[in-house]
Amino acid sequence: MHPRKKLIAGNWKMNKTNGDAVALVKDIVTEAGKVTEVEIVIAPPFTALESAAKALEGSNVKLAAQNMHHEASGAFTGEVSAPMLRALFATHVILGHSERRTYFQESDAFINQKVLAALKNQLKPILCVGETLAEREAGSTLKVVQTQLEAGLEGVSKEQAPSVVVAYEPVWAIGTGKVATTDQAQEVHAFIRGLLVKLFGEAIAQKVRILYGGSMKPANAPELLAQKDIDGGLIGGASLEARSFVELIKAAEAAK
Ligand code: 13P
Repeated sequence: MHPRKKLIAGNWKMNKTNGDAVALVKDIVTEAGKVTEVEIVIAPPFTALESAAKALEGSNVKLAAQNMHHEASGAFTGEVSAPMLRALFATHVILGHSERRTYFQESDAFINQKVLAALKNQLKPILCVGETLAEREAGSTLKVVQTQLEAGLEGVSKEQAPSVVVAYEPVWAIGTGKVATTDQAQEVHAFIRGLLVKLFGEAIAQKVRILYGGSMKPANAPELLAQKDIDGGLIGGASLEARSFVELIKAAEAAK
């Protein structure tokens, strides 16, 4: 048995208008809202957070944002802050997703500021790390992951660390249908666990969930979720439809 509760998180990215989002949340709640053996998190776009929060009220489904700014308020046009997300009952926030690193030039230092701000505001950061195809082919996967993880978690205390969720998302596997093999994924997950041991000690490192992300689907999830250090999934495409997302939750239930 795994020492950590599995976590299935849906990253909806820039998909679903408000009405479509509510319909999807309702379907997920109907099918999986009473599940207790797996932690379920959904991350709709900002525009649907408030209505998603209402639609999941009373269920076990939790709410995440896909990004935030590290300042609490101020002249940052277009941004939203941790207190704003908390006011909408978000419990988690995805930070450092590769799409933000690539398309919006987010640096490790910038992401680190967000991680610290999230924790300060009782939001659980889902910190994404992962290598590009070129980096994997150059043999620098572990080095890249180490740099992103250590820089992203700089200044996080031992008390705060169990609230952190790490997501390993190989960039070449995101939205491509190319899933990492279980061996490739487990190797990096075990490496991340080892880094967490160095940063926070064995007992705390054993509490931190490390999710896999990148073309995770009902067909490949059981094998991935059976790995010792894979504690769940950060799901893109397969989280946009209730049926596949619920199947992934069921796969995590079966793997616990
Ligand atoms: P896909 O599941 O669509 O590959 O996306 C993964 C992802 O980026 C989740 O954050």
